[in-house]
Amino acid sequence: MNLLNFIKKNLIIQNFVAALVSKIPPYLEFSVSKYLGIKKAMYITAHDKTHGSYLEFGVFTGSSFNFAMKVNKSIDKLFGNTKCEFVGFDSFEGFGNIKQEDKHPMFNDKTFSVDEKKVLKNIKKCSKGQKYQIVKGFFESTLKNKKPLDYNIQNARVIMIDCDLKEPTTLALDFVKTVLQKGTIILFDDYIFYKGDEKKGEYAAFEEFKRNNPEIKFREAFEYGYGSKAFIVSSV
Ligand SMILES: C[S@@+](CC[C@H](N)C(=O)[O-])C[C@H]1O[C@@H](n2cnc3c(N)ncnc32)[C@H](O)[C@@H]1O
Repeated sequence: MNLLNFIKKNLIIQNFVAALVSKIPPYLEFSVSKYLGIKKAMYITAHDKTHGSYLEFGVFTGSSFNFAMKVNKSIDKLFGNTKCEFVGFDSFEGFGNIKQEDKHPMFNDKTFSVDEKKVLKNIKKCSKGQKYQIVKGFFESTLKNKKPLDYNIQNARVIMIDCDLKEPTTLALDFVKTVLQKGTIILFDDYIFYKGDEKKGEYAAFEEFKRNNPEIKFREAFEYGYGSKAFIVSSV
């Protein structure tokens, strides 16, 4: 009897699997898939010898930032020391002033304000000798009118855009423009939100960035999570 026939005769199996999967919290799946997305990006870039920094825009509790440092340790064992520096940017106070066009019922300031001291202490604990820096402040002051060299960033290896709204994503993309290199992977963690509206969110910021910088070419690398997407710079 093949598996399909077996399932047809024992519907309890399908009920059991459906019950099991429906109980996994979506937030947990989202976070695990974010880890897998980062792992893929770190692996691909190490494999292709795309050296440089891991940059994260939207650190929050440090979950993805700490994971990136952790997974890089394992990847370094495969490919040799990539000498990656990890740089995270966040206000640790949430979004600040949200523009009218960025308003979304789930993105409000209270959700993302955290105990910064606790987060920084945990990042230090998780870094285990890896080089990192955390730049605290609203992007309007830490990125606007700043250059990557102000933070000693020479080249971008992997960029995690996880700041949800269009405005901070635009600031992040404009900031990283000069450190993009062939092979840099950019992950957009919230690519699909805003009901698919093409004028909103990370998607709109990326489309605008591509229109303003036609000399930089991107190829879709992979999808992950709940509508998240990764792109690789194919030429600069
Ligand atoms: C979705 S959370 C990041 C989640 C994190 N990467 C993780 O995996 O745990 C979004 C973060 O972006 C930060 N953020 C959004 N807009 C910002 C801005 N204009 N300036 C500074 N931080 C901002 C918020 O403070 C928040 O911590």
